[in-house]
Amino acid sequence: MSKFSSIVILTGAGISAESGIDTFRDSNGIWSKVDYREVATPEGFARNPGKVHAFYNKRRRGLRAVRPNAAHEALARLEAGFDGSFLLVTQNIDNLHEAAGSRKLLHMHGEVNAALCQCCGMRWPWTEDLTINSQCQWCKTTGQMRVDVVWFGEMPYRMDEIDAALTNCDLFVSIGTSGNVYPAAGFVEQAKAAGAHTVELNLEPSEGYSFFDEAVYGRATEVVPLFVERLLAGQDDT
Ligand code: NAD
Ligand code: APR
Repeated sequence: MSKFSSIVILTGAGISAESGIDTFRDSNGIWSKVDYREVATPEGFARNPGKVHAFYNKRRRGLRAVRPNAAHEALARLEAGFDGSFLLVTQNIDNLHEAAGSRKLLHMHGEVNAALCQCCGMRWPWTEDLTINSQCQWCKTTGQMRVDVVWFGEMPYRMDEIDAALTNCDLFVSIGTSGNVYPAAGFVEQAKAAGAHTVELNLEPSEGYSFFDEAVYGRATEVVPLFVERLLAGQDDT
């Protein structure tokens, strides 16, 4: 029985790095190869929708070849073994948390395996390529489909649920994120203000490292399973 009653976990690209998915801001990260303003902003999509479709089609196809790693699996074990309230908020648009068995999961930046119609607003699972001729299966409009991912300048999904969870948690754990992008980068301060114990598990200190009560630096597939086993064993001395 853990001494904590309500856990919120935030994950970023770093938790999927050892599954073979590039992060965004590491030395060889995605944003070092492509300008985020061209493929991850509404303006970029309006300017050249074909380029944006191609960028996410490549990432969607790449997902078919990757598997969850020991860090994803450890978080699924934590969700199953923890008897308090639990929410896993991910910034990632991949499906590796689901594939590892996580269910109490929220994709605040959307999912690459989902499509959104800009005409009728419907969103639904989508695993094939999207093109400028893709047709909405609801309103039958063509040319208005986009990947269901939150871009720079757009508001993330389900922020009310996230804010409520942060206000009521007594343990907040941030894993594999550089703490560069808001509002996710501010979650640690919200949790701290609510009196939560805050922990950072990352390869290196993030932008918000000074807000954390505790940090363990190392590869997610090593540090996350150890942290989860300690928590579930109730030996946690944090
Ligand atoms: P922001 O201020 O939240 O983030 C801007 C980020 O862009 C900065 O943190 C910086 O790290 C990064 N950046 C700046 N110049 C860059 C460059 N040349 N190359 C790569 N990265 C660069 O941006 P915002 O417009 O306020 O975003 C608000 C919302 O957009 C946030 O809610 C965020 O969750 C969302 N978002 C989603 C995606 C996505 O691809 N899903 C990408 C970014 C932001
Ligand atoms: N184990 C643990 N952490 C790792 C590993 C690993 N094997 N590899 C990298 N990291 C860490 C890096 O040190 C870095 O701090 O993961 C973090 C990745 O940071 P980013 O590349 O900035 O990714 P993220 O924080 O998820 O970006 C946030 O920005 O572009 C937007 O919407 C996009 O969701 C993304 C958001």
